[in-house]
Amino acid sequence: MTVHGPGAEPGEHSFSEENSARVVIESLRNTRDERLKYVLTSLVEHLHAFVKDIEPSHAEWQQAVDFLTAVGQKCSDTRQEFVLLSDVLGVSMLVDAINNRRSTAATDTTVVGPFHMVESPRRELGANISLDGNGEPCVFAGQIRSADGTPLPGALVDVWQANGAGYYDVQQPDVQPERNLRGLFSADERGRFWLRTVVPRYYPIPDDGPVGQLLAVSGRHPNRPAHIHVIAEAAGHAALTTHVFVEGSPYLDSDTVFGVKRSLIRPVTVVDDPIRAEHYGVDAPFRLIEFDIVLDPLPGPDQR
Ligand code: BEZ
Ligand code: FE
Repeated sequence: MTVHGPGAEPGEHSFSEENSARVVIESLRNTRDERLKYVLTSLVEHLHAFVKDIEPSHAEWQQAVDFLTAVGQKCSDTRQEFVLLSDVLGVSMLVDAINNRRSTAATDTTVVGPFHMVESPRRELGANISLDGNGEPCVFAGQIRSADGTPLPGALVDVWQANGAGYYDVQQPDVQPERNLRGLFSADERGRFWLRTVVPRYYPIPDDGPVGQLLAVSGRHPNRPAHIHVIAEAAGHAALTTHVFVEGSPYLDSDTVFGVKRSLIRPVTVVDDPIRAEHYGVDAPFRLIEFDIVLDPLPGPDQR
């Protein structure tokens, strides 16, 4: 009795080591969505080539299944282990690179990471986003411009970071105030933004799960250099997801998620100028991280 469906005989379509990918790809022929068909076909081709390369034992394949199961089970409302896996394997940065083949004028991009899971609260320019005061006080300021240098008034700047102990608010719900070190700001009429915060500290990505085990067995550390996350948006421009990294931070040369770009590193300067201090609503001397951001205009209708 045939188990191959009406009209089909076992033979050229039956599964073998040699034709494995072709047989599975043939089974995808009725996939209606052409993009999905392309993606699934490529997945099968690469996955079968991978398995043929490593020739796993049954026990090893079960280990792989158990690992992915553990990654899924570690996910919760405040923990995204699959994003971490993508990050430490460099896939997040590769997807970012593919999607940001932009003009050389625009600010470089980097990973969004798994901690932008709650909305940043709207805050006034100059507000202090450090609600727990854990860290060295610091002003974070810059200007948002278009690629031709024109300032972008009213551009939105979404900022989030870890505190002086290296933790995000969502990692310490019983310790940090909700929405600590998060803020959504509108730039002023000259595209400028400024806010008060603390100097971020380097930190380990959450490493008490399967991704941490993967790092450990590979002899890799889990750390990221000190950084502030930024998403900048302005009408008629491509939104930009990036970080500013703190000059001199440990791990700038070995970020565990491969996110560092030299162009994004800025010093923490100490400014002893009462006029600038007054503008930012702080006392002199004060620490300052300056980070100007350039956005690419979206192509007009005739250039798409
Ligand atoms: C972050 O920078 O928040 C981050 C990025 C990737 C993995 C873990 C954390
Ligand atoms: Fe981060």
